[in-house]
Formats: sequence, C-alpha cells, structure tokens
Amino acid sequence: MSNAITIDRLTPTIGAEISGVDMSKPLGNETFAAVHDALMAHGVIFFRDQDITPAQHKDFASKFGHLQVHPFAPNHSEEHPEIIVIEHGPKRKPDLNNWHTDVTFMQEPPLGSVLHAKMMPETGGDTMWASMYAAYEALSDRMQRMLGELTAVHDYEHVFGKSGRLYRNQADGKMQSEREKHPPAEHPVIRTHPVTGRQGIFVNSSFTTHIKDMKQKESDALLAFLHEHVKQAEFQCRFRWQKNSVAFWDNRCTQHYAIADYFPEHRQMHRVTIDGDRPQYRSEHRPN
Ligand code: SIN
Repeated sequence: MSNAITIDRLTPTIGAEISGVDMSKPLGNETFAAVHDALMAHGVIFFRDQDITPAQHKDFASKFGHLQVHPFAPNHSEEHPEIIVIEHGPKRKPDLNNWHTDVTFMQEPPLGSVLHAKMMPETGGDTMWASMYAAYEALSDRMQRMLGELTAVHDYEHVFGKSGRLYRNQADGKMQSEREKHPPAEHPVIRTHPVTGRQGIFVNSSFTTHIKDMKQKESDALLAFLHEHVKQAEFQCRFRWQKNSVAFWDNRCTQHYAIADYFPEHRQMHRVTIDGDRPQYRSEHRPN
C-alpha cells in the first residue's frame, strides 16, 4: 500500500511539490494517474528524498512514454544512454543559461524530462520554470490571434552546432549524420497541448531561429518581444534543490532556466527525457 499522495502548490500558476511517491518502487496505476494529473495541472512537479539508481530513474520516467537518447549531450554510460549527465564544478564553470524548452529542433520535441539531483552545491544552483500557458493568456486577444497563425523554425545549430555554446567537438561524421536526422523543424508559434487542450507559447531563445513568411527584421522583433515576455516573474516558480530531489516537467507548456551561480562548487544532475509528439495548431488556425 503506497503512502497517501499530497500536493503542495509552489505558486498559483506553476509548480507543485508531491509527497507520498517512492520512485525506487514500481509505480502502481493509481500513483501513476495521480502523478500524471499533477503534471498536467501544474506544468512541473517536484519530489524530495528519491535515492534512486539510474535504472529506477528510467523505470519511473518510462511509465510516461518512450525514453530518448539525446543526439548531442554526454550520456551516463553504454548501459544507460538515455541518461544525460549535466555536471559543472571547479574544472567546468556552468554556462550562463537562457530560458528554453528542450530539444525543439526535433520534429517531435519531448513530452518532458525527469531530472534527478545527484550532487548539489551548499547553496545556489536552483532552477526556474515558466508557464507558457500563463505567458500566452497574458497576451491581448489580437496578439493571440495573430500569433496563432504563425509557424516558427527551430534548429540546434547555434547551441550544439560548431559555433554553438554547447558544442562538444563531435566527430564530423556524427555531426553530418545528426544534421541529416534533424533538419530544421517547423512548429506552430502557439501550440495546443495534446492532453489539456490549452494554448501555450512555443518559441524559445535556444532553438527558434525565425518565424516563417516574415521579413528577418519583423521576425527578430517579434521573437525578441516573446523571449522577453515569457520571463515575467508572475509566470514562474523557482525550485531549491537538495540531493535526491527530482523535478518532472512538461516540456510542451513550460520553459526552464538553470541558475549558474555556484561556481566553483560541484553540481551533478541526471536527466531522462521522454519522447513527445508533433506540436499542433489550434484547428481553426492551421495554415494552408
Ligand atoms: C536542463 O536544462 O535540462 C537542466 C536544468 C538544470 O540543470 O537545472
């Protein structure tokens, strides 16, 4: 018999801490449904004291969908290629971050990720999430309608490509084959969530290169406005990690930002990412 599940909201808009879930044990149907519902309601959910192995981490996440192997990020091991290791410390300063949604350069960007804190600095290294539903709902009707008709192009090049900030000197052959697998992807600027049916902004400053069928200056100005707009504190929550905390976010309706304030202390996270589906327009807005 599992403990009763309790849900404490971090803010009225986004984020909730869940207790009564033990990820080291198989997730029963009732617990699965409660966790899934909480994720749909709050966009990002947090758990404490989950002393889990990489296999248990993957077992938990795989209840929500197929796990992906990131094309560029360093993975845990041959046994666990689905686990990305995000690690910074005295020898590797954390990069100054930016607000982003993960891997939107794919035709089917991830449903979400489950991030497990393995090693944390004494203080600092928090992560923030922002609700793209709230960001959308704060726009005027006229702006919502205009954005609802637009399509944006997403590409990995200026993050993981040769001049990108997270380029890791991959062999040229691998870069070439990843380019063939991941040509620039086109997604609606406003995405309809496949489960909740709510609308959210779906452009981000890591991967969105431009808006289709606009002059470059128009596209740059509109994207600059949206990238600034999504940063409002009212759309956000901020999570203070402890060792063995876990965050599970819905990548279809949130952006996140890891705060790089802990150098030279050590922070190590394991991330598992769940496959998603092709972002949808609101049916009446689908361009021809
Ligand atoms: C990520 O951007 O996926 C990692 C966030 C973090 O390290 O807090």
